[in-house]
Amino acid sequence: MKTPLRTLVLPSTVHRVINIAIFASGTASNAQKIIEHFDKSPSVRVALIVSNKKNAGVLDIAREYGTPTQIIDRQMFYETEDLLDILIKQNVEFIVLAGFLWLMPTYLVQAFPKKIVNIHPALLPKFGGKGMYGKHVHEAVKSAGETETGITIHFVNEHYDEGDIVFQARCPVLPDDTPDDIARRVLQLEHQHFPTIIAQLLTA
Ligand code: GAR
Repeated sequence: MKTPLRTLVLPSTVHRVINIAIFASGTASNAQKIIEHFDKSPSVRVALIVSNKKNAGVLDIAREYGTPTQIIDRQMFYETEDLLDILIKQNVEFIVLAGFLWLMPTYLVQAFPKKIVNIHPALLPKFGGKGMYGKHVHEAVKSAGETETGITIHFVNEHYDEGDIVFQARCPVLPDDTPDDIARRVLQLEHQHFPTIIAQLLTA
């Protein structure tokens, strides 16, 4: 007797899932927004959270969402390529730096060309570079008497804050603003735009 031919039925739309990793060290409010944004996404999955702080808030968030985590130290990050092996094992295709302050090592930049993005809390190229992070940026903006500031989302290369700019959004700096006021306004802009810009980059 002949075996009946089996027909392979493919769904009309096959979703390819893109795995991303988020590197975060601070309060991780941006990481949380990104995780929430992609939580039910059929096409993007936060596959790994990487942090250089054992007690980072982002680890609690990861636990809540059941997302795997990886803690790194400088020796592992700069003197081995173990993290690259882990990223490959998790099929990570895209890396998001959300409040992660260590310079990216060459092996990661080369393994993920134009596939690592960072968010910076000012309008680059102003107020960028080594040591320019978090409140230091907002203090510098205030001291310089700027009347506007904003956010920059950019690709990451081996230099601090120098990769190609993908997106910027602006907000005013009011005369009576303290650096904390500026920080709050900028963070709001980050939450508003970062997840959607990542989504656009992943579907481009
Ligand atoms: C964000 O404002 C981000 O732009 C900044 O750290 C903050 C992290 O906040 N990054 C830098 O300054 C990088 N140079 P979060 O931990 O609440 O997401």
